Amino acid sequence: MSKREKFSGRIGFILACIGSAIGLGNVWMFSWRLGQYGGSAFLIPYFLFLAILVPIGLMGEFAIGRKMKGGSFKAYNVILEKLPSGLRNTISAIPTLGVVGIFLFYAIVTGWIIRYFFAYVTGKMNEVANISDYFEGFIGTSDSIIWHGIALLIVVLIVSLGVSKGIEKINKIMMPLLFIILIGIMIRSLSLEGAMEGVKYLLIPKWDMLLKPMTWIMALGQAFFTVSLNGCAMVVYGSYLEEEVDVVNATKQIIIFDTIAALLSAFVIIPAAFAFGLDPQAGPTLLFITVPSIFSSMPGGTIFGILFFAGIIFAAVSSAINMLEVPVEVLKNNFNISRKKAAIGVTIIVFILGIPLDLNMNLFGMVADISSVYIAPLGAVIGAICIYWIYGTKNILPEINKGAAKKQGKIFELAAKYFFVPFSIIILILGILLGGIG
Ligand code: PHE
Ligand code: NA
Repeated sequence: MSKREKFSGRIGFILACIGSAIGLGNVWMFSWRLGQYGGSAFLIPYFLFLAILVPIGLMGEFAIGRKMKGGSFKAYNVILEKLPSGLRNTISAIPTLGVVGIFLFYAIVTGWIIRYFFAYVTGKMNEVANISDYFEGFIGTSDSIIWHGIALLIVVLIVSLGVSKGIEKINKIMMPLLFIILIGIMIRSLSLEGAMEGVKYLLIPKWDMLLKPMTWIMALGQAFFTVSLNGCAMVVYGSYLEEEVDVVNATKQIIIFDTIAALLSAFVIIPAAFAFGLDPQAGPTLLFITVPSIFSSMPGGTIFGILFFAGIIFAAVSSAINMLEVPVEVLKNNFNISRKKAAIGVTIIVFILGIPLDLNMNLFGMVADISSVYIAPLGAVIGAICIYWIYGTKNILPEINKGAAKKQGKIFELAAKYFFVPFSIIILILGILLGGIG
């Protein structure tokens, strides 16, 4: 058997994980969730979960990947060895299927972003009289299919190059650029007249939203989604990790950078929306209608449009790479299919399955919600149970602590076993019962 691929080192690994974490969840979803769930009131449960639950989940996923030298499908198959093979394979496959479901709609949205980018580059955006009509005019039509295909082409090219030459390299370039762009645009956005109203909106909490269970459920879903915690995406990156890399510290850095990116995006989008009198609660269209309306009504808007959408392409592509890597690793290491064949095969399937979503926005919304609100959290819960309950904290702790400057101990074990796992299960069930979508 050929040697397992590896990241070249700590920085490459961390940047790849930051690339995975920072994505549409930050630049697209975060602002709309903030807008809909009480502004900074939403940040309270969100930060609580990011500080307490998410680190436990991430450390466990990195550690199990490194320990088992394999992605989630292999790892959970080993952990669940006592179960009959049909059941074991099914459970082990669920996290992967959840991420493929996310990939289905994510690739489509990435396509829209690439389309916008080109519309700015070619100057076409200047000729658009009504951005809302422009957006509504191509989503749900065959136009969307082409851009969807282009997005997938970029992703499959990078993944075909492999872990260190493709995934790691591209992230090393894209992530620093993304931050520079976001900071530059935020400065511009905050200096717009009327922007301070938006800042107030972000900073003054609507406390009553905290009384609604949905706020907590969505905060947990968002916290898991934003760091790619779904039982497999981070397991696979962990499986390419050198033994001595400190996953405790890496986890901290990933969460911090993801949070910075989310806040930067919110401080770009919401203040600008206020400055131009647009609805901060517009939700999904915030990025595609609100933001371009802002650019079109300000000096130098084209340049800002080009930079902003380039940055979002980086964010989205570096996440999509991780989504493709998950099934590719499964096929490569469990079914002996070459990386290139697996990457191309999965991409073609994802493209074909995605076409109906290109054409039907209701279907698109359904798949987006089901995969990100239910199946991905279910994957995270399956991962949590396998890692901390069945494999056990005793067994995983030494792997988490390997190379760690700050070792985890008894408190971590108790928190993982009696808090993280049950709490994740409860929120997942509540979310399903309350029909938590949107
Ligand atoms: N974390 C990514 C985001 O915030 C989404 C993602 C989910 C990435 C699953 C990889 C795997 O957009
Ligand atoms: Na994110």
